[in-house]
Amino acid sequence: MTKIEMFTGKGGVGKTTMSVASALYYAQTGPTLLISTDPSGSLSKIFNCPLDQSVVPVAVNLDAVELTRKLVLDLWRDKFADEIYTVLSSFLPVGREIIDYIEGAPGIDEEFMLDYLLTMAQSGDYETIVWDTAPTVTTLNLLFIQQLFYSHLTQAQKVYMRVKSVFNKVDPLALIDKWLKLTAKIIELLSNDTRAWIVANPEPLPVEQALDIAGSLADFNIGVNGFILNKLLPSAVCEQHPFWREKYRAQQECRGDLLHACGNLPVKEVPELSGRMEVDGFLGEVVKILY
Ligand SMILES: Nc1ncnc2c1ncn2[C@@H]1O[C@H](COP(=O)(O)OP(=O)(O)O)[C@@H](O)[C@H]1O
Ligand SMILES: [Mg+2]
Repeated sequence: MTKIEMFTGKGGVGKTTMSVASALYYAQTGPTLLISTDPSGSLSKIFNCPLDQSVVPVAVNLDAVELTRKLVLDLWRDKFADEIYTVLSSFLPVGREIIDYIEGAPGIDEEFMLDYLLTMAQSGDYETIVWDTAPTVTTLNLLFIQQLFYSHLTQAQKVYMRVKSVFNKVDPLALIDKWLKLTAKIIELLSNDTRAWIVANPEPLPVEQALDIAGSLADFNIGVNGFILNKLLPSAVCEQHPFWREKYRAQQECRGDLLHACGNLPVKEVPELSGRMEVDGFLGEVVKILY
């Protein structure tokens, strides 16, 4: 089974940097897919080619894709629109525009992002999927909607049983059942095959958020590999000027808070690096620190 490695954390802390570095690392040993679900994704820029239309090979053993809302909804249409239309039009006088209406419902794109992740994991094409997530709240919403959808479908089965005489030509219970199984599979994928890295910078807010995410991920049954404390200033470069000495002290205080509160989870420390975040730039250094 494909394993999924997800990178979460506040916006700007280094999720994409860590994801790309990890994807390059895993690609050394087996076929790897790098997926971004961050709407402000930057993979296209890093690999210097458009990744928001489909899965594209970007390096040896490495494919990448940016799951934009538009791409997700296009895929959703291809996969589900016909069945939904068949069911709805069997008892409502509706045209195909009903699909546009449903597509606009909140949560559809989030829901389908995880279905996409499942499809990719089940394809057997990849040994590892590296998942570069959107900032914390959006990702937690995505996981929450997944569970909400599951309980909604469970209710839907009961409701359907009461009104089933309305449907004469099709069996919506089969559709509900199919979605329920799919959703259960996604929840299983998250708890059995997914491990998270929580990325933070040595500042109060990112550290606080990182510890909160650790708690939320546990609630969603997602295993945590550990924390990555990114952009630590090296002491040697901070000794010369009071401004940098103070900056260093403040960072170390946050580092202490994280080390104190992280429980048994490992904390990987990545310094503030010079150079550019490129395949032949500082990404190689990050790989050395993480693995
Ligand atoms: N260790 C580091 N040293 C220097 N710059 C870094 C480091 N990690 C990340 N960056 C830079 O910080 C910015 C934000 O990182 P990014 O990975 O895009 O964050 P996120 O995906 O969490 O929003 C990028 O410009 C990236 O190049
Ligand atoms: Mg990013």
